[in-house]
Amino acid sequence: MFQPLNFRALGAATRLALVVLGAGLAQAAAPAKGNPAAGKTVFATKCVACHKADGSGGVKLTGNPTPNWKDPKVWADPKRKNADAFMRDCIQNGKIQSGMVAWGKTGQLKPQQIEDLIAYIHTLAKKK
Ligand code: HEC
Repeated sequence: MFQPLNFRALGAATRLALVVLGAGLAQAAAPAKGNPAAGKTVFATKCVACHKADGSGGVKLTGNPTPNWKDPKVWADPKRKNADAFMRDCIQNGKIQSGMVAWGKTGQLKPQQIEDLIAYIHTLAKKK
């Protein structure tokens, strides 16, 4: 006799496989929360020349000077309302006209390193 394939069982197995695959992809997508200690190491080698070791900035090259991250007025600026997104964009795409390097876009920093740097910059803003 003709035996039809068991499509219901096959469907359940496919659905299960998709759920497992989906969970794995979701986990790999976003970089983990920034680690300020790791950010400090990168900052010391790649950023201090223009942003100063304490983040006080004030170095002017070709356009805007580097911001003073120690000054609460800098953080109160409306363009920094979502400070992490603002910094992420700047580190990713740079501010070429001012001399800020597009670290992410040029492949010099990985997404995780950018998150680490953002976490570290927040520690510079805190008053001692
Ligand atoms: C060659 C000098 C130079 C170096 C090196 C440099 N920056 Fe900048 N950065 C600038 C300048 C200039 C600005 C101001 C840009 C503007 O406002 O137009 C800036 C702005 C920024 C901003 C936006 C800050 C704000 O609140 O306005 C962030 C975040 C930043 N830099 C992070 C970094 C990090 C992280 C590094 C190291 C990986 C780095 N920069 C290295 C020159 C530099």
